[in-house]
Amino acid sequence: MTIIVTGGAGFIGSNFIFHMLEKYPDYRIVCLDKLTYAGNLSTLASVMDNPQFRFVKGDICDREAVYNLFEEEEPDIVVNYAAESHVDRSIENPGVFLETNIMGTATMMDACRKYGIERYHQVSTDEVYGDLPFDRPDLLFDEETPIHTSSPYSSSKASADLLVLAYHRTYGLPVTVSRCSNNYGPYHFPEKLIPLMIANALNDKPLPVYGEGINVRDWLYVEDHCKAVDLVIHHGRVGEVYNIGGHNEMRNIDIVKMICDALDKPYSLITYVTDRKGHDMRYAIDPSKIHTELGWLPETKFEDGIKKTISWYLDNREWWETIISGEYRNYYKAMYVNR
Ligand code: NAD
Ligand code: TYD
Repeated sequence: MTIIVTGGAGFIGSNFIFHMLEKYPDYRIVCLDKLTYAGNLSTLASVMDNPQFRFVKGDICDREAVYNLFEEEEPDIVVNYAAESHVDRSIENPGVFLETNIMGTATMMDACRKYGIERYHQVSTDEVYGDLPFDRPDLLFDEETPIHTSSPYSSSKASADLLVLAYHRTYGLPVTVSRCSNNYGPYHFPEKLIPLMIANALNDKPLPVYGEGINVRDWLYVEDHCKAVDLVIHHGRVGEVYNIGGHNEMRNIDIVKMICDALDKPYSLITYVTDRKGHDMRYAIDPSKIHTELGWLPETKFEDGIKKTISWYLDNREWWETIISGEYRNYYKAMYVNR
């Protein structure tokens, strides 16, 4: 079995590669990654010498490179994690999101059609459903919830989802789609809420909370997401969408306070800053379908997952300090100074 994992030098893709190499020692895993600002080869250092693993630097939009890779590797399964993934960056510069998230997805699926595949899996997001109101805790996203996006990021991911389902209907491509809630865990790029707050708190820097900090996200430990995708690619029904989420809704401000408490840092570091444009209020997933059909349930409780995550950032300072000392400084300045 050969699996091409795109975007495997990023946060979730790398965790998925670790999971797969450990669980299926006889599988060949080929990572295709462009190494954008979010991709980090040092993340994959522990598997680089594994004979079952191959890293290929390349762009999922580069048709010739993608086709060559399919000819060389003859993959059975493709799991597409590669994407521009940060909402704030999409608000500043939507173009690259459309290119990678939509055109890149189309290119990968064209290769699957041309060379044949057992399964193409699209890693999507709950953000395609838009947001839910604060005063209706009974409402959750299920797979029938209408697509209703807010940001250029979520719109590009929704476009890709529609294209994936259209390739199934039109060409019979054996696809599955998973839509997951917010992940956290090791190797999370420090532009996202949890790793940014951990890194800033450790450096005694202000903790920039957007708006009033009352927006709600449904947090899932990354390993649980990887296990869910593993189940979907092996046992999920072709043409189906599976929502993945942990029934773990939390307000941003409560997470930031938890991080302060865990690191023994004062709440006075918390700084309320101008809200994100079009900021989604609340996300919450109904994971009944994947639970009923595939037996998936989240295994890591938030209290344990956040402790593990904070310990990881304490033990792996070099990984994130290298990131925040580079080009990230310009991003941070543009995004947060005078906000
Ligand atoms: P990430 O930004 O950490 O990693 C993205 C990876 O894709 C990087 O390694 C980057 O180099 C690579 N990449 C970007 N453009 C590429 C291109 N054109 N060709 C090849 N590689 C390219 O993202 P992540 O948080 O790991 O998210 C992975 C996937 O999961 C994305 O599709 C995202 O939409 C989805 N998702 C993320 C979350 C979350 O909470 N992070 C939740 C649900 C779904
Ligand atoms: P983020 O990690 O960017 O994920 P997403 O927007 O895809 O859900 O943000 C999570 C929440 O945290 C979101 O409501 C925005 C908020 N946030 C802050 O308050 N401050 C920050 O510096 C960042 C990056 C996010």
